[in-house]
Amino acid sequence: MLEKAKSLLQPSARSGVPPFMVMDVMVAAARLEAQGRRIVHMEVGQPAAGAPATAIAAARAALSAGPHGYTETLGIASLRRRIARAYGEWHGLDIEPERVVVTTGSSAGFTLAFLAAFEAGDRVAVAVPGYPPYRHILTALGCEPVLIETNQQTRWSITSESLLARHRERPLKGVIVGSPANPTGTMMTTAALADLIRCAEDAGIAVISDEIYHGLDYAFAAESAARLSSDAIIVNSFSKYFCMTGWRIGWLVVPPSLLRAIERLQQNLAISVPTLSQIAAEAAFDGRAELERVKHGYEENRRILLDGLPRAGLDTFLPVDGAFYLYADISRFSADSFDFATRMLDQAGVAATPGVDFDPLQGRKFLRLCYAGARDDMHQAVERIGNWLAK
Ligand SMILES: Cc1ncc(COP(=O)(O)O)c(C=O)c1O
Repeated sequence: MLEKAKSLLQPSARSGVPPFMVMDVMVAAARLEAQGRRIVHMEVGQPAAGAPATAIAAARAALSAGPHGYTETLGIASLRRRIARAYGEWHGLDIEPERVVVTTGSSAGFTLAFLAAFEAGDRVAVAVPGYPPYRHILTALGCEPVLIETNQQTRWSITSESLLARHRERPLKGVIVGSPANPTGTMMTTAALADLIRCAEDAGIAVISDEIYHGLDYAFAAESAARLSSDAIIVNSFSKYFCMTGWRIGWLVVPPSLLRAIERLQQNLAISVPTLSQIAAEAAFDGRAELERVKHGYEENRRILLDGLPRAGLDTFLPVDGAFYLYADISRFSADSFDFATRMLDQAGVAATPGVDFDPLQGRKFLRLCYAGARDDMHQAVERIGNWLAK
């Protein structure tokens, strides 16, 4: 019966997006753990800490109070106001709460933003290496992701020159920027971001700025595209700084011209965002002291890796500016980062993500290590990788 159903209904061509390899690494790591091995997890990009106590307490209280019906499609008004207020606190910006749209994680924010701003067939620039779902969501929606290779000279970001060069080949409708970025952890300076936004908008290219790692900046303060343009679409989330990945809650700041389109889309695609998560998210803003302690933990982890990995043999990585990723060049040891990651997991017991997930062009040379785990795991990772590479 199951076989018959399969043969009648075939997946659409646009659903044929590539898998996320990090999930394969997770499965392999779990298999080794089931055999009794102790594995150091540096593969998945999520905080080891949970939501702040303020968020948990608010969710508990709301659970007892119930019921939890739908909310307004654009989000609970007090949460939208609180998010808008945060732009004043973080960037000295006055953002109208009406421009804030609460979403089911930034992931849903991307779908809404792409549907509202682009037509099927539109070309949208994305950096490589970069976060794979940018490309895959665009593809699933019938848009064309245009890969722009970045390198040391461009400080691993799209520049106005590289953007306009692709625009001249065939017009682009949009560009996605992310700073701090995943998988590299590198950031754009304010000058670089301002230059890119100005050139893009002068050329009629819409800017979508993924600011999900804001709050986790160590080298210098992360700039918001909201300070540089009122036309840029800002994507953010409670997943990373606020340690709320599983609560599935994020937000957009959108230009007024797109607001009603996004509202209509979210009405139809989701009705509203989970109510309990919205209540918890609003209270998470009061957990600042706890969240700053978590951030200082990442800073310490980062220092341990920056000190220890070169001694262990991994001495070439991209600027480790923010987020909680270190993107290491492993080409001295292997021409295939998937094979390298598989052997490192099996022989050293350290799980990391091969760069091929993030970069179809040069990813075979790189490995992403996430340092959002426990401090002792960082020491373990350095020691295990060092011993393994020395063999
Ligand atoms: C750069 C970047 N953007 C967006 C997301 C999506 O996060 P969420 O949907 O949990 O907000 C992630 C998750 O890892 C990410 O790394």
